Amino acid sequence: MLRGPSSLVGASVAPAAALAVALLSSLSRCDLLESEQPVVSVLSPYFGTKTRYEDANPGLPDAEVLRRGAERLEDACTPVQLVALIRHGTRYPTAKQIAKLRHLHRLLQSRAPALGGSGADDDGRDLGAVLARRPLWYADWMDGQLVEKGRQDMRQLALRMASRFPALFSRENYGRLRLITSSKHRCVDSGDAFLQGLWQHHHPGLPAPDVADMECGPPRINDKLMRFFDHCEKFLTEVEKNTTALYHVEAFKNGPEMQKILNKVAATLQVPVNNLNADLIQVAFFTCSFDLAIKGVKSPWCDVFDVDDAKVLEYLNDLKQYWKRGYGYTINSRSSCTLFQDIFQHMDKAVAEKQRSQPVSSPVILQFGHAETLLPLLSLMGYFKDKEPLTAYNYKEQTHRKFRSGHIVPYASNLMFVLYHCENAKTPKEEFQVQMLLNEKVLPLAYSQETVCLYEDLKTHYKDILQDCHTSEECASPKMNTTSDEL
Ligand SMILES: *[C@@H]1O[C@H](CO)[C@@H](O)[C@H](O)[C@H]1NC(C)=O
Repeated sequence: MLRGPSSLVGASVAPAAALAVALLSSLSRCDLLESEQPVVSVLSPYFGTKTRYEDANPGLPDAEVLRRGAERLEDACTPVQLVALIRHGTRYPTAKQIAKLRHLHRLLQSRAPALGGSGADDDGRDLGAVLARRPLWYADWMDGQLVEKGRQDMRQLALRMASRFPALFSRENYGRLRLITSSKHRCVDSGDAFLQGLWQHHHPGLPAPDVADMECGPPRINDKLMRFFDHCEKFLTEVEKNTTALYHVEAFKNGPEMQKILNKVAATLQVPVNNLNADLIQVAFFTCSFDLAIKGVKSPWCDVFDVDDAKVLEYLNDLKQYWKRGYGYTINSRSSCTLFQDIFQHMDKAVAEKQRSQPVSSPVILQFGHAETLLPLLSLMGYFKDKEPLTAYNYKEQTHRKFRSGHIVPYASNLMFVLYHCENAKTPKEEFQVQMLLNEKVLPLAYSQETVCLYEDLKTHYKDILQDCHTSEECASPKMNTTSDEL
């Protein structure tokens, strides 16, 4: 506890000395506190896909609490299979982001010296000078790789999942775990770190072996499944490589909300506003988020922005996700239907095995991918859909939007399908039930708000996607001869 100034009054030492001693000791206590508790910023809720998992999900129960209340729907229902889609943990900025940051940094270093004290912030600091002097610690080799905090994200997620579903993650099932991953380093490494977390769960205190030596083997790469967006020709032509597809993102970058921030930042940093643009502003904002997530420090980059700026920059990030990965274009979500079908094929197989009284051959399937993997799938299922599209012109009206990527896909975000088998079911149909969890919280069905449903009903609801969505057709580019690749 920090002592208030009033307790100093009665101190027997000379007041000034007492104050100095008290200040010093309270300072060191603060340092101590900060190393134990995560450093937060008022901007943290607005980092979008660069949000730390714990900031998006405050008050996560620890593994011990989960162990005591291990998941059961009702007494008669037990989980028999878990299919989990997991976004990689905290990562470094990409080489592209680092290049932009370097550009901004050079701009600050080459600016004219601040005139007559203007440009000083509320504390009288010249923020531009502070930032120009501060060395950039990002290097090209980092290029989007998983950081140590990201490994920790995965190990802790593994521990919580194993505690929540002890039977599924039992020692006996260890050899039957199936891990599938995107080819990106950060995803492969996330799978490895997850396995190390599971090892800790079963062998506390013992160092984990190399994943290659683990019973289940290392994660297997499958980009067709985890990076379906790279393999969908129609998506690539109509959205990814189409310069006009992200019209609203570009329009918002040049709109009044961004212009206001540009002017403000130019004044704060004492650089000509013409040398700045929305991309550089965004990279400064991301640097605040990276410094916080990777190093656990609140860097001076955070001081460039206030909460209102952060909300605008969050919207810019969400706009991009909306038009590229969400409801903006139908192909964004349709391109994920192979992944959706794959999840149901796993559950179908488990149901068939249970019906034949056989053990479930793959009780746990873990798939490591990206925010770009999860968002289209959630959109395909109808989640986080706003009545009005997100556009460059309705920032104010979208203040309370559902489509907020920081809440949906922070680092280490996860979507779990839990298949339950119920012993005392009255009808065969009631024997199998499904519950979904998003970021470890129950995700009610998009169409009924129920927290659990019969497996058959879920399949009926999504039968269009399960039966009629074939990526070979969905992803065929209109300009291409659609029959040629079928032959
Ligand atoms: C690019 O996007 C625009 C806007 O959605 C669309 O009208 C146009 O057809 C797209 N171009 C291609 C080549 O698909």
